Order: sequence, then structure tokens, then C-alpha cells
Amino acid sequence: MKASDIKKIACIGAGVIGAGWATNFAVRGYPVVIYDIMQAQLDAAKDTVKENLDFLVKKEIISSQSAATALAMVSYTLNLEEAVKNAQFIQESGPEKYEIKQKVLAEIEEYTRADTIIASSTSGLLITEIAKYAKHPERCIGGHPYNPPHLIPLVEITKGEQSSAETVHCAKEFYTLLGKEPVVLNKETLGFIANRLQMAISREIMDLVMRGVCTIEDVDKAMLYGPGLRFAIMGPILALHLGGGPQGAKGMLTKMREPGMMWLKDMASGTEIPEEWADIAHEGVLREMENRPAEFGKTDKELIKFRDDMLIELLKLHNKL
Ligand SMILES: NC(=O)c1ccc[n+]([C@@H]2O[C@H](COP(=O)([O-])OP(=O)(O)OC[C@H]3O[C@@H](n4cnc5c(N)ncnc54)[C@H](O)[C@@H]3O)[C@@H](O)[C@H]2O)c1
Repeated sequence: MKASDIKKIACIGAGVIGAGWATNFAVRGYPVVIYDIMQAQLDAAKDTVKENLDFLVKKEIISSQSAATALAMVSYTLNLEEAVKNAQFIQESGPEKYEIKQKVLAEIEEYTRADTIIASSTSGLLITEIAKYAKHPERCIGGHPYNPPHLIPLVEITKGEQSSAETVHCAKEFYTLLGKEPVVLNKETLGFIANRLQMAISREIMDLVMRGVCTIEDVDKAMLYGPGLRFAIMGPILALHLGGGPQGAKGMLTKMREPGMMWLKDMASGTEIPEEWADIAHEGVLREMENRPAEFGKTDKELIKFRDDMLIELLKLHNKL
């Protein structure tokens, strides 16, 4: 199948990610059916899709006419067969558990043609395991978005042992048509690229805070006003290249090799997350929220608005909107 053969899409799972994907597909002109096992989730997704579209209109990314057209592209159902039977591309965004994803995949396969692509939004599970019992594992891949999926361009495409090159090629082409920036992983690995990087950062944060080096608020400030600003402009290795002067990345990595190894020896390398860490982080967040300037948002709702407003500006600067 080619990306141009994709005319209709099914979103399986109407949570945060399913509703975000549906917004993205509909804005790009694709009819999309959202399926869930709970009516309440479908109702909530309907509200989310409308809110997402209203936001894009408010930000002058799309016209109110385009938003109305997109809204009419999305339908909702509790009937899986109805959702998937005519779809050429299925984006599965159910709960992050192998048993559930395997079961959902088996149900989907009952009603679809053998060449319908089935992409899982999984945040880090292996496609080989998800597609272990599939009749047609060659059409199963991972298509991991970043939240909110209708705004963030990254999609990590992951392959299982039996995923076909044709499926990967078509999915990459299709996500590109949606305005995404797909990255294809050459080998299967838990957590993929971006979440592994996030986890490595989280492990170091946990260690710094638990050792009393700094507070949660200090960590967030250090990242936000330091490397975070650069990371929003270019990737960490390119940023490092610019720190190396005329010798670039090679010069930087050569001069920092010995000190870097000294830091590494002192840095976190554990594989345990202490039980009390969730409470410590939560307390830290509450204190940080209290200290934020009002115009940056002090409640969850205000923070989401702040994040999305900033995201729009950044995406415009990156020519992604
Ligand atoms: N939340 C994130 O930031 C994020 C980011 C990227 C990827 N993901 C991945 O996307 C997927 C969905 O995450 P989410 O945050 O939207 O979860 P969620 O809990 O918000 O939504 C999951 C939805 O799946 C539905 N569901 C449960 N069993 C089902 C079944 N058998 N068939 C169909 N639907 C079923 C639930 O009713 C719910 O509406 C997960 O694999 C997650 O790891 C999440």
C-alpha cells in the first residue's frame, strides 16, 4: 500500500492520545472513526476534539470553516467492526499493557483486510510482543506520538521482527503527509529514543534531589533556562557541536572526555525508583507552582494553556505550522 491509498482512519482508544490523533487526522482532511469500549470516554473525546480545533482557530492556525469541516470528519462508535472495516490505517491508542494491546489487535484483525496498517501509539512496548499472536504481523508497527499529538511533530516508528519494510515505508510517508517528523528506529528497544532520554534525565533528577543537591524547583529552573532553551532550537548533539568552537563536536568531546568520565562515575546508574519518589516529586511540584509568576500559570489548567501557547510560537518558528 502507498500513503496515497489511505483514505479512512480508525482511532482505537478515545483517551488523551486517541483524541489528539483524531484531531490531527481530521485537520489534514481524513475521515476518522474513534472507537472505545466506554461511552463516557467517547463523549470526553468529542469535547477534546472540539476544544483542540477551537484552539487552532483561536491561534489562527486554521479557519473556523476548516475547523467545522474537520469536526464533521470525526465520528464515534462503540462498535469495533464499524470503526475498522473500511479503514486503511488504524492508530491504536489503548492502555499500555501487552495483554490489552494483543487482545485489541486480535479483534481488529477479525474485521480488516490483510494490508490495513495497524500502528500502535505505545510509549515503549515492543511491537514483536504486541504482534506475537497476529495473523498478519507484517502490517503491525509502532507509531509513537508525543503529547499533545495534534501539535508535537515527532512520531517514532518502531518495527517488530516481522514488520515489513513496505509497512514502515508507507507509515513514514503517511505521517509525513500529516505534517509529522517521523524517526524510524533500526532496532527494537524498550522506551524507544525520546522516552529513554527522558528516563535518563529523570533518573539523574531523582538522584540529585534525593542526595539533597537541589530541589525539584531548582532542577526545573536549571533545565528550562539552560539546556532546555537550546533543546527547543536544535538537538543536543548539534548544540554541543556549537560549544566546541572551530573544532566542533569532535573538539568538544575530546576536551570534555576526561572530565565527562569523572562526572559519569559520580552519576546515577541505578535501576530502582524509590517508592517515596512520587510523593517527593509531587510536593516539589506544588511548591514550584506556588512560586510561579501568575502570567506563567499557577494551576494545571493555566499550565496547559501556557504550554500550548508557547508550543504554537515554537512550532511557527520551526515552520511546523
Ligand atoms: N499520555 C501520553 O502522554 C502518551 C504519549 C504518547 C503515547 N502514549 C500511549 O498512547 C496509548 C494511550 O495512552 P492515553 O494516555 O491516551 O491513555 P488513556 O488511559 O487516556 O486512554 C486509553 C483509552 O483506551 C480505552 N480502552 C481500554 N480498553 C480498550 C479496549 N479493549 N479497546 C479499545 N479501547 C480501550 C480506555 O477506555 C481509554 O479511553 C498508550 O499506549 C500510551 O502509552 C501516551
